[in-house]
Amino acid sequence: MEYIVDGGRRLHGEIEVYGAKNCALALLGATVLTKDAVTLKNCPEIADVENMLALLVSMGKKIVRENDTVTVWGELTTICAPRNIATLLRGSALVLGSTVAKYGKIALPLPGGCAIGARPMDIHIDGLRALGVETMIDDEMVSCCGSPEGTNYKLRFASVGATENMLCACALAKGTSRLYNCATEPEVVALEQMLVQMGATIYGVGGSDLTIVGTDELHGTEFDIIPDRIVTATYLSATVATLGDVTVTKCIPQHLDAFLSVLSPHFCVKKYDDAVKLNAMRPASGYGDVSTAPYPGFPTDMQSLLLSLACVAEGTTHIEEKLFENRLMHNATELSRMGADIAISGNIATVKGRKLHPAVVTAKDLRGGAGLVIATLSANGKSTVKGVEHINRGYSDLAQNLCKLGAKITVVD
Ligand code: EPU
Repeated sequence: MEYIVDGGRRLHGEIEVYGAKNCALALLGATVLTKDAVTLKNCPEIADVENMLALLVSMGKKIVRENDTVTVWGELTTICAPRNIATLLRGSALVLGSTVAKYGKIALPLPGGCAIGARPMDIHIDGLRALGVETMIDDEMVSCCGSPEGTNYKLRFASVGATENMLCACALAKGTSRLYNCATEPEVVALEQMLVQMGATIYGVGGSDLTIVGTDELHGTEFDIIPDRIVTATYLSATVATLGDVTVTKCIPQHLDAFLSVLSPHFCVKKYDDAVKLNAMRPASGYGDVSTAPYPGFPTDMQSLLLSLACVAEGTTHIEEKLFENRLMHNATELSRMGADIAISGNIATVKGRKLHPAVVTAKDLRGGAGLVIATLSANGKSTVKGVEHINRGYSDLAQNLCKLGAKITVVD
């Protein structure tokens, strides 16, 4: 699938944001902790979520989806995750902690996902071992066996996925666990909140140090998936790239503080309770020095968006990617096809902004793909973005939604 983007059109209007992919995946992983029904509202219709649902179904869960509401219930009938689905997405790793906690075993083919870096699983494994779970990993599979027992554990890095697996494992562990240096991304906090609603006892919700008192059983609940902060940032970036005027609604502006603080000096940005309005009158004069970091730092997922914005600014931007080593290079190569001036040294890109021209570019990963769409929106004339299947993993109707704001994008199968 590809997009033909007829760029150079100013975006304007209002657009709603749907639920966050990375929240949906974590909450779906946690549904394994109970046989009761867990109902998730605001569930996005995107390929990664459909694949996660297929994974749960193939392991025995029952699922009903009505529009954006998904209900999951029932016991697992196998602890073996099917290879053909698990390898499609990184989110499949998020059944590790919940399955071992509830069923004492899991065999998980190594998860797939975007090729944005090595993406090891050592922290997940080290953490489960600290809980007394026997865990083995080879080139193809992670296997765990044993019942988690409460412990004190410090994550060597605040990994989102490892924190989520540890939270699920500790919620059904024997005894109390103290976890230090946990990730505090809003999607992790949403998982903590849902676990509490399911009957877990967690002290320090939202913080990086958590105390979790294990329980024998958790029960069903209903939970609203939080709005997707990366989709919000994508719509705002498209607005900047086209010098537009757009209000993004049904979002949580404080989840975008780091991103908005980079844009605010250059554009008129207004934050409301559940909306952000951005009016871009003229290109930014370069965005200075930006480094990615775990929340509340500047998110790696928004780095691909900022790289495109830096390409069309009027000054120089330095972007340092500290989390995923492949994320800068691929898009830099593609953007240079459009005339971008990007010099990469190690994990730092020095970008001298200028006007881009249309070109044929190829997405190799989800956020990189969104970044390329943003760049093509800014360039006057017709560009092609190939590899749209990567974009569809995490965006619901990206082209159609941007068209509602005045973009001209044709989707070609
Ligand atoms: N890391 C390790 N060992 C581990 C786990 C992580 O070294 O055991 C390293 C990673 O290699 C990376 C850093 O720690 O350098 C951060 O990885 P993290 O575990 O936090 O990321 P993740 O859980 O694999 C989630 C999101 C990503 C998002 C990152 C960072 C999901 C399903 N994925 O990945 O989202 O970029 O957190 O915020 O929640 C995306 O949506 O496009 C996406 C890639």
